[in-house]
Amino acid sequence: MRKLYALPLGLIGAGAAGIGYASVIERNWFALRRFEVPVLPAGRQPIKILHLSDAHLTPGRSRLINWVRSLDALEPDLVVNTGDSISHADAVPSFLDALGPLLDRPGVFVYGSNDLYAPIFKNPTRYLWRTSKSDYKKRREPDLPYRELGASLAAAGWLDLNNRIGRLKVGELDVEFGGIDDSHIGRDRYDKVAGPVDPRADLNIGVMHSPEPRNLDRFAADGYKLLLAGHTHGGQLCVPLYGALVTNCGIEPARVKGLHRHPAAGGPDAAWLHVSAGLGTSPKAPVRFCCRPEATLLTLVSHSG
Ligand SMILES: [Fe+2]
Repeated sequence: MRKLYALPLGLIGAGAAGIGYASVIERNWFALRRFEVPVLPAGRQPIKILHLSDAHLTPGRSRLINWVRSLDALEPDLVVNTGDSISHADAVPSFLDALGPLLDRPGVFVYGSNDLYAPIFKNPTRYLWRTSKSDYKKRREPDLPYRELGASLAAAGWLDLNNRIGRLKVGELDVEFGGIDDSHIGRDRYDKVAGPVDPRADLNIGVMHSPEPRNLDRFAADGYKLLLAGHTHGGQLCVPLYGALVTNCGIEPARVKGLHRHPAAGGPDAAWLHVSAGLGTSPKAPVRFCCRPEATLLTLVSHSG
């Protein structure tokens, strides 16, 4: 009898321990990733970009708020926020508090679906057979204060890149940006930013929430050399020694996070693509496994060619 119960009880215990680890420990075990990107014209001084994404902030997440604030010590030349910043109607002040001194630095932002729509409970395993795109089809009116969020960031001087082009001086560089709103909920309007990049700019950066290949293709074809996105959460629940099973959009699991090329095969005209695994999760699925929450410091350096 004892043997009969030992296996199921052991499995239940291991499952409970895994969920506890994923929700309490790993979800608050923030990582700073660093990459060097050879994307600047020859002879230019390096610049540092802090890439933030998918904070999904709710009031009271003090560990997350304090960690993001501490990133100002990295002295980035530019902050890029690729969306899903909030997950609660009262989270805008908390998100601004998290950015704190980073708001005094040059910055740009786009929205993600979760900036507009409050989280609802979903079965996390359903991502194995479909994305969350269809969840939004019946939700017409946004119920989160994304306009207040955008107005607050813009008031600090950050560029709103939702279906817009913008320009900023970053360090000694003249940087042109093209950005789109979230393709995951059909708000991307690439045609509004379409066209060849300005060759007089020192660098051209494409910014989006979801790394949807059809938009990555257009950014790269227009001459953007650095593409920044979030949304995937790095797969969120990953398999040890294997990695992500899903990306929740059209990009393949091999590029679910980190620094890659687009087109993936590379070549002289390929852009650099950085996909952030993000800082948080939906509060309705507060678990991360083998996929720590992260921010990234990208150091842009001159390319050799
Ligand atoms: Fe997200």
